[in-house]
Amino acid sequence: MMRTVIMVSGSGTNLQAILDAQPANTDIVAVVSDNPGAFGLTRAQQAGIAAITVDYSTFESRSDFDRALADTMAEINPDLIVLAGFMRILADDFVESYIGKMLNIHPSLLPDYPGLNTYSRVLDAGEQWHGTTVHFVIPELDAGPAIMQYRVAIRPDDTPETLAQRVQQGEYLIYPQAIERVASGQLTMRDGVVYNNDEAITQPDIIDEAVAA
Ligand code: GRF
Repeated sequence: MMRTVIMVSGSGTNLQAILDAQPANTDIVAVVSDNPGAFGLTRAQQAGIAAITVDYSTFESRSDFDRALADTMAEINPDLIVLAGFMRILADDFVESYIGKMLNIHPSLLPDYPGLNTYSRVLDAGEQWHGTTVHFVIPELDAGPAIMQYRVAIRPDDTPETLAQRVQQGEYLIYPQAIERVASGQLTMRDGVVYNNDEAITQPDIIDEAVAA
C-alpha cells in the first residue's frame, strides 16, 4: 500500500471522487491544506482521515511556510502526494524531494493552457477541444509529463461554467484511475520520462467524453 497524502486548497470535489473510488494500493493517510477554510478538510474528517492545516496566512514569509509544509510532510513520510486543487505554488526543493511521487490534475489539455482560468481562455480562443490532464509534478508549473487526459468537444453554446462541469466529471473519472496506475507501480517517472511497465511513453492515455459517456 502506498501511504498517500492529498493536498487541497478548496472544495475538494476531486478529493471526494478519490475517496469514493478507493484506488487500489492506496492508503490515504492525510489531507493537507494551506487554507483552514477548505471544505476538503471537512470531507477528510467525515471520512475519518487526518485533516492537517498549514495555514499560509500565519507565516511571516514564504520560506517559513515552505519549511513548515516540508516538515509536516516529512513527518507523514508519504509514498505518494496527490495535488487536488492545491492552489499554491510549491517550492522547487519540496517538489524535487518528492519527484516521481507527486501527481497533479490541471484543467486543460497540457501542454496547452497552463495556468489559471483555462475555461474562459479556451472559449475566447475559439478552441474546439478542452479537457483535463493528470501529470507527474516537476518544479516547472503545469509542465510535468502527462499520464492521462480526458477530452471534451466544446459546444457552440458552452460557457465557462458548462464546460467546467463536463471537464470536472472527467476529472472524477480519470484521477482515481491514474492514481491506481501509479500506486500499483505500473506507471513511473524517471529522469522526466514516464514508463508504463518499463516501456517509455510519450503520450498520455486519452479518454474521450463521447466514449466515456
Ligand atoms: C480542479 O478542477 C482541478 O483541475 C484544479 O483545481 C480544481 C479543484 O477542484 N487543479 P476541487 O477542489 O477538486 O473541487
